[in-house]
Amino acid sequence: MDAPKISLKGVRKSFGPKTVLAGIDVDVGSGQSLVVIGGSGSGKSVLLKCILGLLRPEAGSIRIDGEETVGINGTERARVMKKFGMLFQGGALFDSLRVWQNVAFGPIQADGVPPAKAKEIALTKLGAVGLPPEVGELYPAELSGGMQKRVSLARAIAREPEIIFFDEPTTGLDPIMADVINELIVKCVRELGATAISITHDMASARKIGDRIAMIYEGKLIWQGSTAEVDRSDNAHVDQFIHGRAEGPIKMQVKKL
Ligand SMILES: Nc1ncnc2c1ncn2[C@@H]1O[C@H](COP(=O)(O)OP(=O)(O)O)[C@@H](O)[C@H]1O
Ligand SMILES: [Mg+2]
Repeated sequence: MDAPKISLKGVRKSFGPKTVLAGIDVDVGSGQSLVVIGGSGSGKSVLLKCILGLLRPEAGSIRIDGEETVGINGTERARVMKKFGMLFQGGALFDSLRVWQNVAFGPIQADGVPPAKAKEIALTKLGAVGLPPEVGELYPAELSGGMQKRVSLARAIAREPEIIFFDEPTTGLDPIMADVINELIVKCVRELGATAISITHDMASARKIGDRIAMIYEGKLIWQGSTAEVDRSDNAHVDQFIHGRAEGPIKMQVKKL
């Protein structure tokens, strides 16, 4: 791999006595798509939030384009953040804004694009995810779950980011709509030439959108490999997860630790 776009070494994050990330090492090459799989509560969202700088790890290094980002100041953080687009778990659209305003939000707020131009960008991005201009005038609450995901995706790509994160992009969708969204993610990431990290517990989604897959368990990435290799990982945890078996080495957490 050339110099990785994103490089994590020894990333640790705890909340009180509870260690969520216990030393994460991973590199993502430019233009690569990494999917992190793992059970709910395994720390997938915490991992993304650490990379985004929304949470600060206690230890370790997170380099973006070779630049250390742990502990950088607000101005530097804002500059690094300009490289990122994000599709949050649940979509997280602003319900008081029209669809086009949601998509135009980043270009207007972060890049100072004038509203008329930003609306044009928004309508183009809505088109890229298969939504006609009329949808731009609606409010998120008027849309189905699948349509809302499309809007969230349009918003994530609106600023043409170099790096895009997808947090559980297909959760709550039926399998057919999930597949449509997966296809759109692949298409949008490819068109942008972006580097992507997605987190999911949906294996169909992981297989479709990932070049590489990593599995998080008990705070560590216990396996990493190409998407093709996931079926012959020889790792009992990975096998149990991808086949969704109740029996195996992975123990369900019953109590909040
Ligand atoms: N801000 C926080 N404060 C305390 N605990 C947190 C916080 N964010 C996440 N956690 C805990 O970290 C663990 C991992 O959470 P998360 O990364 O959201 O899991 P998931 O893999 O489902 O995305 C959970 O046990 C959660 O309760
Ligand atoms: Mg999560």
